[in-house]
Amino acid sequence: MKILVTGGAGFIGSHTVDLLIENNHEVVIIDNLSSGSRQNINHKAKFYQANLNNFEEVEKVFKQENINVIYHFAAQINVRESVNNPINDAKENILNTLNLLELAVKYNIKHFIFSSTGGAIYGDTMQLPTNETTKEKPQSPYGCAKLSIEKYLNFYNKAYNLRYTILRYSNVYGPRQNPHGEAGVIAIFFNQMFNNNDLTIYGGIQTRDFVYVGDVARANVAALYENKNQEYNVATSIETDIIEIFLKINKYFKNRFKADYKEISRGEQKRSCLSYERIKKELNWSPLTSINEGLDKTYCWYLKR
Ligand SMILES: NC(=O)c1ccc[n+]([C@@H]2O[C@H](COP(=O)([O-])OP(=O)(O)OC[C@H]3O[C@@H](n4cnc5c(N)ncnc54)[C@H](O)[C@@H]3O)[C@@H](O)[C@H]2O)c1
Repeated sequence: MKILVTGGAGFIGSHTVDLLIENNHEVVIIDNLSSGSRQNINHKAKFYQANLNNFEEVEKVFKQENINVIYHFAAQINVRESVNNPINDAKENILNTLNLLELAVKYNIKHFIFSSTGGAIYGDTMQLPTNETTKEKPQSPYGCAKLSIEKYLNFYNKAYNLRYTILRYSNVYGPRQNPHGEAGVIAIFFNQMFNNNDLTIYGGIQTRDFVYVGDVARANVAALYENKNQEYNVATSIETDIIEIFLKINKYFKNRFKADYKEISRGEQKRSCLSYERIKKELNWSPLTSINEGLDKTYCWYLKR
C-alpha cells in the first residue's frame, strides 16, 4: 500500500513512518520542516518538502504518486501559541487540513487517519479516565481546531464516503520530541538538564497521561485496516504529576537540578487521563511501555545524540 504521511519528519510522524516501512509499506512524506528535521526522515521514504497551505504544490504530489491512505500529522502543535494567535492556529490546523481533505476526495483516497488530541479536546472533566463518549469541551484554540476537523471528517464521510479514523493521543513523549510542543514537558526537562540548567515548574501537581511514542506508532499502524469511521483514545490511563516527572528525570542526573516553582498558568487543565478501553477492544492495542522504561529509552537517546 502507498501511504502519504504529512509531518513525517516530525516526532510521532517519523516513528510511524519507520514502523510502516518495517511493515513493508511504501511511504511518501510531505513536510515543510518547520518543526521536523531531515535527520528523522527514514531513507526508504520518498520526501517532498512542501507546505500544506500550498494546494497546487501538494496536489503535484498526489498527481505524481498513486496514494491509497493518508496519515495526517502535520500541525501547529503548541497550545500556548494557539491561545496567543488563534487565527494562525486555525490556518495551520483547520485550513491546511481542508486542503488535504479536498485532495483526498479528488484523488479517491481510501482512508484518512487523523492525529487528534485527547489531552486538549476534553478539557477539565470529572470523568477520569475519560472515554470517547465524554462531551468534548476544549479549553484552547488548538483543541477547538482538532475537534472541528473531527466534525469535518464526519461531513466528508457522509458527503463523499471518505473513510476515516481519528486517534486522540494523550501526552506523547520519547526520542525525537521537539521541546517546543503541546506536551513537551518531558522533552523540556531533559533538554534543560542536558544543557545544565535548573528549571521552572508552573504548578506541578497537575496530572497528565504520558504515553510512549513507540506505543503510539503501534496504535497508528493498528488503525490502518480500521473501517468504522471511529475515534479512539491512545493513552495509558495512568495519571502522573509534573513534579513526579521532574523527580524521575532528575535521578538520571544524580538529583543535582533544582526546580523553581511558580503559579500554574491560568486556564491550564488540572488533570488529564484517558481510557483506552475502546482501542483495546476493537483494535487489540494496549500500551506496552511503562513510564520508567520510556524515560530510560528517552534518556539513552539524548545520550547518543
Ligand atoms: N506530541 C503530543 O503529545 C501530541 C498529543 C496529541 C496530538 N498530537 C498531534 O500529533 C501530530 C504530530 O505531533 P508531533 O508531536 O509529532 O509534532 P511535530 O512538530 O514533531 O511534527 C509535526 C510535523 O509537521 C510538520 N509541519 C507543520 N506544519 C506543516 C505544514 N504547514 N506543512 C507541512 N508540514 C508541516 C513539521 O515540520 C513537523 O515535522 C500533530 O497533529 C499533533 O497535534 C501530538
